Amino acid sequence: MIIYLIPSIIGLLSIAIAFFTKTSMLALFTILYPFLYLLDLYARYKRHKLAQPWPAKDKVVLITGASSGIGRSLAHLFAKQGSTLILCARREDALINVANECRDQYGATKVITIKCDVSDEDDVSKLIKTVEDSFNKLDCLILNAGVSMGERFESISDYNIIKTIMDINYFGSTYITYKALNLLKNSKGSRIVVVDSFLGICPVPLRTGYCGSKFALRGFFESLQFEIWEHEIFVVMAYPDVVKTEINDNRLGKTPSRLDMKSAMSSDECANIIYRGVVRGDKEILFVARGEFARLAEGVFPDAWSYLTRKYSWKIVAPSNS
Ligand SMILES: NC(=O)c1ccc[n+]([C@@H]2O[C@H](COP(=O)([O-])OP(=O)(O)OC[C@H]3O[C@@H](n4cnc5c(N)ncnc54)[C@H](OP(=O)(O)O)[C@@H]3O)[C@@H](O)[C@H]2O)c1
Repeated sequence: MIIYLIPSIIGLLSIAIAFFTKTSMLALFTILYPFLYLLDLYARYKRHKLAQPWPAKDKVVLITGASSGIGRSLAHLFAKQGSTLILCARREDALINVANECRDQYGATKVITIKCDVSDEDDVSKLIKTVEDSFNKLDCLILNAGVSMGERFESISDYNIIKTIMDINYFGSTYITYKALNLLKNSKGSRIVVVDSFLGICPVPLRTGYCGSKFALRGFFESLQFEIWEHEIFVVMAYPDVVKTEINDNRLGKTPSRLDMKSAMSSDECANIIYRGVVRGDKEILFVARGEFARLAEGVFPDAWSYLTRKYSWKIVAPSNS
């Protein structure tokens, strides 16, 4: 009998603690939790109803950073479903290999590769012009191209590292969206998929420029979603945790330490999770429970969260030094 009372006792205790120690808003939040939960379910249902069905077959899908890692795995998945693919990145040879894999192993019939540096506005304009001339619409824009860094801010010898990261991760995603918006409007229920990062929710040391760019993406695209909701264009924010790809070998800066990749997921697993969220039209994709926990904990107990991440995040980003 007592076992059934425990949740109620804990609940009442939480409300009392929240009321007396923190803020009355937190107590209110705790009381309203069941209603907010139901509202969340309702809002998700409404969004999914508007966003679905969205079969990937014959959809025109543009993937930036498709030459390796998550972008390459996403290209395979969409190829398997019969989408028309436009793949872009800077390394032309690697792109052509991915396009061949899409055709030979996954049965794609329409694949275009375009060499494009997303931080170069001319390249991006040409890319979007090609999509316009070829299809006059875009069903899915996947903003995946990205670079990372691994160095203390105080020790970087060239501040351009920070600028380069912003140019690729942030401006490389926002400018292409600016140019592609009319094409996205030409397709009902189109998607803008932002491959953000867990580090766009939870900052860690040695990644100042990277975390900054990923936090900025979230602000930009959450804001844009309000503006383009009326056109039924859906922004899908994806926040992957650590994924086994080339990104950490190519980190800018002095890349002082190896990451512990034991629990990292493969790029195929990551792409599968993103793909399912894209088809459903999810607002966001949080890959691991710690993503949800980080957001809750940081919002309610910012100092405690900062204390814990300060203590433990070094073990993640610099295991050999801690
Ligand atoms: N791996 C992880 O642990 C992880 C975790 C969370 C989020 N993410 C995010 O996932 C995305 C994909 O990264 P990944 O892990 O798959 O790494 P990756 O294998 O290194 O892939 C990065 C891709 O971005 C492309 N790229 C980089 N700079 C570019 C530029 N200026 N213009 C066009 N393309 C460019 C690269 O192609 P080229 O070099 O040929 O241009 C490559 O195809 C990134 O946005 C990253 O921040 C990764």
